[in-house]
Amino acid sequence: MRGKILKVLFENMNEFISGEELSEELGVSRTAIWKHIKKLKEEGYEIESVTKRGHRLMGYPDIISKQLVETSIDTKYIGKKVVFINEVGSTNDEAKMIAQEEIEGTIVISEIQTKGRGRRGRNWHSKEGSGIWMSIILKPKISPSEAPFITQIVGAGIIRGFEKLGIDAKIKWPNDIIINDKKVCGILTEMNMDFDGINYVVAGIGINVNTISFPDDLKEIATSIKLEKYEVSRLEIIQNILPEIERLYDKFIKDNDKKEVIAICKSRSNIIGEKINVIKESATKEAKAIDITSEGNLLVEYEDLSTEEINSGEVSIRRNLND
Ligand code: BTN
Repeated sequence: MRGKILKVLFENMNEFISGEELSEELGVSRTAIWKHIKKLKEEGYEIESVTKRGHRLMGYPDIISKQLVETSIDTKYIGKKVVFINEVGSTNDEAKMIAQEEIEGTIVISEIQTKGRGRRGRNWHSKEGSGIWMSIILKPKISPSEAPFITQIVGAGIIRGFEKLGIDAKIKWPNDIIINDKKVCGILTEMNMDFDGINYVVAGIGINVNTISFPDDLKEIATSIKLEKYEVSRLEIIQNILPEIERLYDKFIKDNDKKEVIAICKSRSNIIGEKINVIKESATKEAKAIDITSEGNLLVEYEDLSTEEINSGEVSIRRNLND
């Protein structure tokens, strides 16, 4: 019942809704409504209750729960089913374990990851409550060679969601979200396929939200939403990014339309026009990032003026800040 009350309060954020309306809509007594509202206030929800006007939700604590996300998210299928696990090795690993049985759009979220994974076998620092550690299960009916583009869809969705919250961020193609030259979010997209094509894709998103200190090796390169002086809760971020990811993903899957994603990745790129290192297997080559093509590949120019289109699945890019 508390989840249902919260859903109505969320839908009417900052506006009064009377106890009578709530009790009629939810089919319980006004006394029961009062008890639940009292409990919500104890949990940290800022609810103003005024005689003859009712209750209004003014703010909420930085809590993520299955119920809160499922009831407050404005999407058709991404995040409509949430698997919430307080402590997990990696949400990507968990998502991969359940993907076959779950419906498309199911998300796995955790408070703590003990074995959070980044690209290229790196660890992802995932302390309790400090960020959003979340994986989306997708079942795209596309050719496996098109799957790496999903990373850019997720990145562009995060940028748009951030924009709605007033957060100014950039993309380091194809999978890092950057604020003031430091990484605030990483995306790890993994695919499972067989001879018939893709079984599922898991898009893992790690966003540093409340982190106030990083280990020594990350201090210079990582940041968080809080360190960048934005006051936004994890739930608000999830509520803003998932609808954008869904919208852009739908465009791609239904109409093979990549235009908006590429426009976002280009206009918000922090590498186009810059010197970069292209790391393929273990070889590193200096290049200049020129453009993102209509297919979503990165066009680079090497020192000998030869050019190459790089597919996001095959390389790692490091911005060369020494120049
Ligand atoms: C990177 O930048 O290297 C990618 C980082 C991806 C981290 C997220 S956190 C949620 C999901 N679970 C994981 O183990 N990794 C991704």
